[in-house]
Amino acid sequence: MEKTVNILGFAGSLRKGSYNKALLRAAVELVPKGAKLEVFDLDGIPPFNQDLENQPAQKVKEFKAKIRAADAILIVTPEYNYSIPGVLKNAIDCASRPHGDNAFEHKPVAIMGASIGMTGSSRAQYHLRQCFVFLTCFALNQPEVMVPFAHEKIDKDGKVTDQKTREKIRELLESLVAWTRRLKG
Ligand SMILES: Cc1cc2nc3c(=O)[nH]c(=O)nc-3n(C[C@H](O)[C@H](O)[C@H](O)COP(=O)(O)O)c2cc1C
Repeated sequence: MEKTVNILGFAGSLRKGSYNKALLRAAVELVPKGAKLEVFDLDGIPPFNQDLENQPAQKVKEFKAKIRAADAILIVTPEYNYSIPGVLKNAIDCASRPHGDNAFEHKPVAIMGASIGMTGSSRAQYHLRQCFVFLTCFALNQPEVMVPFAHEKIDKDGKVTDQKTREKIRELLESLVAWTRRLKG
């Protein structure tokens, strides 16, 4: 029997009614057999200050430990001003430091995202992929899950109701699990 693939997921929005948090909740429901998805909330990660990088906050320590314990990472990103939100970039910066202690090193990672606009967070996702080069993550290339007009696909209770979107999320998770198994040999 194959070993369970443990995925850690986090969303780059702190907003209670976040569409991206809703995508992540849907992913928890849709995770394939043989995998588990744990959600980490970025709320409480302090702004990165390099003077203090050797004395990280408890929340940063927890975040790094969870990333290290996971077999794979799922990042769900909103798009802010054509890029990733500061909250997400800050969390990534915190977990990548100090030099030589980058928690993301060699982690398989997948991305998805939602926006209320017509491009579904695509510009943010491509910026995020650029960060993966320096982080030395192994990014899953396909499928690309970009959810435009999120307000039409997620109901007022924060449930992803659009079946096509749910199918894409399932496909992404299946691909991430296969990618992780392939990398782990
Ligand atoms: C500061 C800010 C900048 C934004 N910039 C973009 C943008 O560049 N492209 C886009 O499609 N939506 C943009 N939006 C709208 C977001 O897609 C929308 O607020 C979305 O709901 C954010 O994700 P969330 O629901 O997970 O919080 C922006 C929103 C904010 C607050």
